[in-house]
Amino acid sequence: ASTAARRDYVLALDQGTTSSRALLFDRGGRPCAAARQEFAQSYPRPGWVEHDPEEIWRSQLAVARAVLRDSGVPASRIAAVGIANQRETTLLWDRASGAALAPAIVWQDRRTAGLCEALAAAGHGELFARRTGLLLDPYFSATKLKWLLDHVPGARARAERGELAFGTVDSWLAWKFTDGRAHVTDVSNAARTLLFDIHRRCWDEELLALLDLPAALLPQVADSSTVVGRIGAHWLGDEIPLAAPAGDQQAATFGQACRRPGMAKNTYGTGCFLLLNTGARPIESRRRLLSTIGWRRGGDTTYLLEGSVFMGGAVVQWLRDGLGLINAADEVEALAASVPDSGGVYLVPAHAGLGAPYWDPHARGALLGLSRGSTRAHLARAALEAIAYQSAELLQAMAEDAGQPLAELRVDGGAAANDLLLQFQADLLGVPVLRPQVTETTALGAAFLAGLAVGFWQDEAELDAHWRVARRFEPALAADRRAALLAGWRRAVARSLAWAEA
Ligand code: G3P
Repeated sequence: ASTAARRDYVLALDQGTTSSRALLFDRGGRPCAAARQEFAQSYPRPGWVEHDPEEIWRSQLAVARAVLRDSGVPASRIAAVGIANQRETTLLWDRASGAALAPAIVWQDRRTAGLCEALAAAGHGELFARRTGLLLDPYFSATKLKWLLDHVPGARARAERGELAFGTVDSWLAWKFTDGRAHVTDVSNAARTLLFDIHRRCWDEELLALLDLPAALLPQVADSSTVVGRIGAHWLGDEIPLAAPAGDQQAATFGQACRRPGMAKNTYGTGCFLLLNTGARPIESRRRLLSTIGWRRGGDTTYLLEGSVFMGGAVVQWLRDGLGLINAADEVEALAASVPDSGGVYLVPAHAGLGAPYWDPHARGALLGLSRGSTRAHLARAALEAIAYQSAELLQAMAEDAGQPLAELRVDGGAAANDLLLQFQADLLGVPVLRPQVTETTALGAAFLAGLAVGFWQDEAELDAHWRVARRFEPALAADRRAALLAGWRRAVARSLAWAEA
């Protein structure tokens, strides 16, 4: 017990798409120290996105060490390490040497679009959707793994002999931290591979056979919030339990304490990731949203509906870099706030097509409703509002799919610092928008899951007490005004659809 008492922190590792981060949390769920390191993105051909597996590992190890060193907290005081990771990104490595066979194929990579189209044309889309809750899209791991087996010389034969291991980033890090003792993933990451039956919660033989993928490649699938291995003392200075990893968006949902059906979170990053808790059963979406596993603890599985906005905060970057309208992203709020509304201007940020609920790759960006009185302030305001409109439409579709109205929206991510955006979001949704004190919710979720796994925290009720709201944005718009704004947005979207084809 005295050893446990000394272990008064949890270390959360957040391995994201552009950076590796490490955060220390105390018993009160407060972040005490953080370290961050960016790593290289590689775009070897149009549509391809790769990461160097060794750089992912080295940067993650470096920030874990840095946060301990800089905070003066020794590894002997860490109760557990939790991992939250960029999802879907696909790695293949040699079980004997631990060396990766190829660069990691990142979730954004579109090289397998043709393969997905061929599978859909052969009529397999429905089977994949029914079993996995996902769509046949290059976004997910399965076709990336197939691509690696088909293109890395000798890989398929070696995979069939059981010499190779497949994993998403969580598996890769767990393998490294346990010196090859753990080849493991968790249900939330497995649910993003397009190979995992989210109802039976196991790898799906039929889908594996369809893609000609040997089962010998696959990691073991753990529940969320269990200890999956021990991190050797040579890595961080003391032996530490490694808890089951979690996909970053699911971890953030857990970190936002969205643990009951009807609760939702939105992360306002470059894009936006919206997840709605749908309870103990997966929902079959009628609007091509994704159904996925959030977490599984104590024999209970929590399912989520997920939707994403392709261009969220990226629209502000475009104002800065594409138009030169502002010099820095944080200027946008003051500029937008200098006018009372957008003056009828709508910006549809369909620069890269539109995702759910439209799913139109041929849609293109549109700026509508300009008049002689329109200024750059109106444009800035329309850009911020576009983030909220897209999120509101997705949330509405999700709530309809789930047959349950949204109770409130919890928010995080860079643009969640923007009060104007959050107020408009609340106005559009007609429910409160809540910004928590700790907006590092991805890392917090990983810490929560790891802390629960080792008894650092006792139960979810205790965690709820550690989720504290910093500011609550109440809806303050009359229903008819809201309806008029949304109708205007839909008219604007209608004009941007199928534009690239016309
Ligand atoms: O599905 C992709 C998602 O997990 C990436 O999240 O925060 O690393 O961009 P992020």
